[in-house]
Amino acid sequence: MSYKNVLGAFLVSAVVPALSSAQESAPHPTYAKEVSRIIQENCQICHQPGQIGPMSFTSYEEVRPWAPLISMRVAAREMPPYHYDNHVGVQDLKNDWRMSQEDIDTIVAWVNAGSPFGNAEDLPPPKQFPNMGEWRLAAELGPPDHTIKSTAWDVPAEGQDLWWKPIVDSGITESRCIKAVETLPSAAAIGSTHHANSHFKVLNEDGEWVNGDRLSEFAIGKLGEKVPEGACRRVPANSKVEWEVHYFPDGKAVPNDQVTVGIWYYDEEDEFVEEESFPQDLRAYLLDGGGDYMIPPHGTLMTQGFRSFDHPVRIDSWQPHMHLRGVAMSLEVFDPQTGRKEVLSQASNWTSAWNHSHTYEDGYQPLIPAGATIILTAWYDNTADNPMNPDPDQWVGAGQRTTDEMSHAWIAVSHLDQEAYEKLLAERKERENSSVASLDGAD
Ligand code: HEC
Repeated sequence: MSYKNVLGAFLVSAVVPALSSAQESAPHPTYAKEVSRIIQENCQICHQPGQIGPMSFTSYEEVRPWAPLISMRVAAREMPPYHYDNHVGVQDLKNDWRMSQEDIDTIVAWVNAGSPFGNAEDLPPPKQFPNMGEWRLAAELGPPDHTIKSTAWDVPAEGQDLWWKPIVDSGITESRCIKAVETLPSAAAIGSTHHANSHFKVLNEDGEWVNGDRLSEFAIGKLGEKVPEGACRRVPANSKVEWEVHYFPDGKAVPNDQVTVGIWYYDEEDEFVEEESFPQDLRAYLLDGGGDYMIPPHGTLMTQGFRSFDHPVRIDSWQPHMHLRGVAMSLEVFDPQTGRKEVLSQASNWTSAWNHSHTYEDGYQPLIPAGATIILTAWYDNTADNPMNPDPDQWVGAGQRTTDEMSHAWIAVSHLDQEAYEKLLAERKERENSSVASLDGAD
């Protein structure tokens, strides 16, 4: 049969017009119209050339072969990687990576419909991402007031996860209030810098090095962190900074790599009135579930840690920290005055592959009355079902090595007095009442 005949047979077939008109009016989403926008917003920050995502998602041709896997990972909320429960605890977070259920459903419906492209005219313009190696907060705040670098490290092209933990001088001579802090990996090593944390180290009265506050934490896609107005997180003068950089070789060697942290300070004169501020700290609270424990081979375990304060506090952020057997953590508060226990935050699908600080939206930070108990619960899975588990035959106890276990949370706590606590509580009540009123249509 000649080419012309085939074409002729095709053209006279009634099936063709029927199909194409069905396609035009079809209710299913297309890549060009809906899906490309969702991928731009939620995935491309990591899934583009040179970033940590193992494949690039910048065009239909790149996305299409992965469509079934994308549907699975998105429906299971494994991608984007952000392990914070949707149905329990405070849901108002800053820099929240969780996708809306509507967007997830759109991706799934698109894949179920055979991942159609749609019409090229519907494609959005390519999304611009900030230049690698530049401060993201600079657009708003200008260059940082102070920077601290990790010591140089040769990142190899190939190999296993690497942890680099140098201690450097902070170069800080004056104890000031942090306005914002951002960690910046080098542009060359952006694809291999999985995360980078930094902590202050200060001398105690006996002249020993002790762990001080967390300074900053980096995970790709993160914008930096601002300390809420009215809270003062002080940098310790004459301190050291301990780095904890997690490199994951991505095929490209980067000699002499350095990670930098930038600090912006509150201006003590105009913007910030020190007398009216609450001191804030960002510490590892509730260390190791409050004691010794051993996780049995092929077994599971739960531990709890408790903490209370003799004054009211506000919790500004929460970041679970466990190692390879850790799979879930929750943050709760028990108030002995009322007998009530409440879940503040939970990460049920946690994995040590991803480090996230969950920062509560202003006005939604949990307010904890004096004497209430903050409860941290950690769950561990030492069975072969835990994909992070390197060896289910081992007993695992608490310790410093990656293969030991840990369970604490980095928690930013603003320390309030009773008056400030009551004021914040009254503001919340007022907001809640007015939102109820507007739901009722009463105002
Ligand atoms: C913060 C960075 C980041 C973001 C944002 C992100 N990914 Fe990923 N993605 C990764 C990394 C790193 C891996 C490889 C390691 C892993 O699987 O966890 C990966 C792996 C994947 C895989 C392969 C999983 C497998 O089983 O092999 C898929 C599919 C995927 N991502 C889809 C997505 C989609 C779709 C989005 C957006 C809705 C997204 N990712 C957002 C970093 C990211």
